[in-house]
Amino acid sequence: MWNQTVLQKIIHEKMSDYSLVIASNREPYRHVFADGKHRIQREPGGLVTALDPVMQAAQGTWVALGSGEDDRQVLDEHGKVMLPPEHPAYALRRVFLNKEVLRGYYDGYSNEGLWPLCHIAYTRPVFREADWQSYLKANKVFADTILEEVGNQKAFVWIHDFHLILAGKYLKAANAANLITAFFLHIPWPNPEVFQICPQKKEILEGFLSYDMIGFQIRYHADNFLATVDRELETKIDREKISIWYQNRETLVRAFPVSVDFEAISNHAGSSEAQKAVKRIRHDYGIGKAKLVISVDRIDYTKGIPDRLRAIDLFFDKHPEFKEKIVFFQIGQPSRVHLERFRQLNNEINSLVDEINWKHSQGAWSPIIFTRSYIPYQNILALYRDAEVCIVSALHDGMNLVAKEFIAARSNATGTLILSRFAGSARELPEAILINPYDTESFAGAIYEALTLSPEDKQKKMQKMRETIAQQNIYRWVGKVLSQLLKFEFQEE
Ligand code: F6P
Repeated sequence: MWNQTVLQKIIHEKMSDYSLVIASNREPYRHVFADGKHRIQREPGGLVTALDPVMQAAQGTWVALGSGEDDRQVLDEHGKVMLPPEHPAYALRRVFLNKEVLRGYYDGYSNEGLWPLCHIAYTRPVFREADWQSYLKANKVFADTILEEVGNQKAFVWIHDFHLILAGKYLKAANAANLITAFFLHIPWPNPEVFQICPQKKEILEGFLSYDMIGFQIRYHADNFLATVDRELETKIDREKISIWYQNRETLVRAFPVSVDFEAISNHAGSSEAQKAVKRIRHDYGIGKAKLVISVDRIDYTKGIPDRLRAIDLFFDKHPEFKEKIVFFQIGQPSRVHLERFRQLNNEINSLVDEINWKHSQGAWSPIIFTRSYIPYQNILALYRDAEVCIVSALHDGMNLVAKEFIAARSNATGTLILSRFAGSARELPEAILINPYDTESFAGAIYEALTLSPEDKQKKMQKMRETIAQQNIYRWVGKVLSQLLKFEFQEE
């Protein structure tokens, strides 16, 4: 089975000549000043869940945007800080952008343009020329920072997600001889009909094709990409090797379903420390002895949070006997709060929660606890282990690692996962109760099914899902990527 040690051995054997630099927009940890104290917070989102353990094993450098108010203070003279705080293993090199560039690159082009374009969740993409110019500037700043990190060495540079598609082009233009470059897209890739409205479609595709390899979450997204390139550019597609030749360069196209550190999550969630955290949280939030149904999401319109709330409402209409027996505990992690669409979503969620709680509450009991407070990652893992059911109801998601974290946390092999068919993880987890989040009636039925499943069925399903995620863990994921790029034979350890 792949684990941290196996990965370290591979890196030592196959990559001794190369340094490793990864880059993403989101940083793994943020230094903040909150409630009169200096603190460090682990950032939300699947990208950090996946890459933090990888970097702890690989011990390279992570280049990312500094976003916390204390982020500059803790850096050394090279702009770096060692992470994670409890046992430093890798360097975080922070990039800073001025507000104007940040607004155009992050809020504008990335999150008002590419994000809705790729997710197709019925929010119209907006493309502005000024945002595109900021996107190019920001990608150049990232590339220059990476080049500074690499210096004259040989390096494997691995860029993550849609914010930085163009970085690879600048990297190759500056230092093609010493760099192996790869790109991984954490979000879905749409079909050619959807993608064609992007005014910068040619530049974006050329950005992708500047890498030696590009990875997608699932085969379907990789196929969409091949079809898009086929339609938009003069290329030669090698269907045997699954690669694209463009302007005398070859780019491999692969699907690598991202995953989690199964063993670490499983161990922590079962610890006595985790049990203590659960007791405290149950007390602090007034959950008492009620059974928990948990959801954890960035507050994003792709996550299907209002759809979930409507299904909960209908569930209590149909099954009032569950009142006072269960609590829906929703951890909502604020994100992209400057954007109007995200503000609207927050307002919609607030009024739905108020309305449903008012309608169904009994005495001191309310059906939904919705918190936007920061809850440390280790405590979230503890809550996964404590919950009866976890609901992931994304309208569209590249993978969704909450689903995999929940499974990894169930070291007692119980608990039920309700999972959207439209999350990439549904392909690996057919044993979950799969839902269409747009269909409120059957969604409510799935909640009832999850709560009334026999203990034997629950165990059987969870056991199977745990076997899958234990096997397809995050270290195996990196192993696969490296074996393709460095051309060694992948071995199922
Ligand atoms: O997984 C998609 C993604 O945009 C990641 O790139 C990012 O780390 C995460 O979601 C959180 O998004 P944001 O940084 O915009 O809050």
